[in-house]
Amino acid sequence: MPRPPRPLEVPVTVPDGPAPLRHRVADAVVAELRSGRLRPGDALPSTRVLAAALGVSRGPVVAAYDELAAAGFVVSRAGSGAVVAPDADRAAAAGAVTHVQACTVGGSVENRSARAEPRWDLRPGRPDTSLVDAVAWRRAWRRAGSSVPGNDAGAGPPHDRLREVLADHLRRTRGVAVDPADLLVVPGVGASLRALPGPLGLVGRTVALEDPGYAEAWTAFTAEGARVAAVPVDEDGLDPGSLPRGAAAAYVTPSHQYPLGARMPVARRVQLLDWAARTGGTVVEDDYDGEFRYDVSPLPALRSLPGAEDHVLYVGTASKILAPSLRVAWLAPPARLREPLRLELESRGLVVNEATGLALAEFVASGALAAHHARVARTYAARRAALVEGVARHLPGAVLDGVDAGLHVVLRLADEVDDHVVVEELLGRGLAASPLSAYAVEAQVRGLVLCYAGLPETAADGAARVLADAVARRG
Ligand SMILES: Cc1ncc(COP(=O)(O)O)c(C=O)c1O
Repeated sequence: MPRPPRPLEVPVTVPDGPAPLRHRVADAVVAELRSGRLRPGDALPSTRVLAAALGVSRGPVVAAYDELAAAGFVVSRAGSGAVVAPDADRAAAAGAVTHVQACTVGGSVENRSARAEPRWDLRPGRPDTSLVDAVAWRRAWRRAGSSVPGNDAGAGPPHDRLREVLADHLRRTRGVAVDPADLLVVPGVGASLRALPGPLGLVGRTVALEDPGYAEAWTAFTAEGARVAAVPVDEDGLDPGSLPRGAAAAYVTPSHQYPLGARMPVARRVQLLDWAARTGGTVVEDDYDGEFRYDVSPLPALRSLPGAEDHVLYVGTASKILAPSLRVAWLAPPARLREPLRLELESRGLVVNEATGLALAEFVASGALAAHHARVARTYAARRAALVEGVARHLPGAVLDGVDAGLHVVLRLADEVDDHVVVEELLGRGLAASPLSAYAVEAQVRGLVLCYAGLPETAADGAARVLADAVARRG
């Protein structure tokens, strides 16, 4: 049973200084936490009592309590008022504060530690790996370890078992019918895109990329000698009618356009396939988080459309559905590209080690991946709803894009706002996010890319408040 809150008996001393009173009151409470005189579970005095004790008006004390709540130091409990949150003492000891402090060159100690470990990490690409069933994971590795490793390093591990179970997984979850023999297992999408231009004949030719889009794809194709052309995206994703003449390939994220989140409707998918059939171009379909849908029916992958197997190179990854640290992804290329691509990957050492492949195969084959997916999909749906609600509450009228699918949303900011500055402001307040403009080449887009996968529902309101404060100040 949780112990009843212990009322704060120590007097809070608020020092004089140039900072607004609300900050000084909040700092004084954090100082009590840092010293250990105030502990998690303790109740703060009511704002009325503290204001009277300090001889100040109640307004700044209410604002200070709001600040403490927004930063996660206290929570409000019905009947008990503000109570110190779990781990608030550790956060204070680590130097976390409730507000941005005027910093000297190089940043204050408090600011630097708030930056090192954001209280709310909403940067994209971070599923909640704590939701992985540790027992099932260990069992998969035990089984994978039941045979000694093979000695075929030169040719690259074949991953027969993993390809078999992945083919089944793709058929069931993404509608993609692929022969296990046609799948290639690779160490992540980002690295593997670099191997595409040679086998696909893209060196010196134009690859159309979504703008805004996945920066890794830009880097990979450019580094390998392809010419890249930015194609704007709208609320339906990339418009095939806008593909530049002579393009040899188009790289698209039709399930959940990265980062804006559009779902490409079937008509455009068909148009894209027509383009590929007519021009001989290749469509690279990056289905990076195609497994996650909310309140909308799932759209099968573009690769599942009739005739797509000749034109679409399908790309999937374990990074979102399981963990990015695994470094496992898979490619389903058109049959003519399979062998050249396999050789290219091998020559670059882009292979996944045998043990990881076996363990993942066991995890999928045992049904643990399907169970994990069902569990995280429910959790992410609730976290998404909490963040969307929090934003609606604290930033009424704000536009959120990409809420139907994936693990992130985009909070749009006005065109004239420097979203890098807003991100800096947020970081100073303990919230890490990505600026939307960082994904753009020519597109004039401003906003914040916010991944909610690791944001518990109980923390969403605090995070949304911080977003609102930063946007009010810099947005
Ligand atoms: C568009 C897109 N594709 C693919 C990935 C996954 O890449 P990897 O498999 O290298 O982790 C990401 C990760 O954030 C992504 O944003």
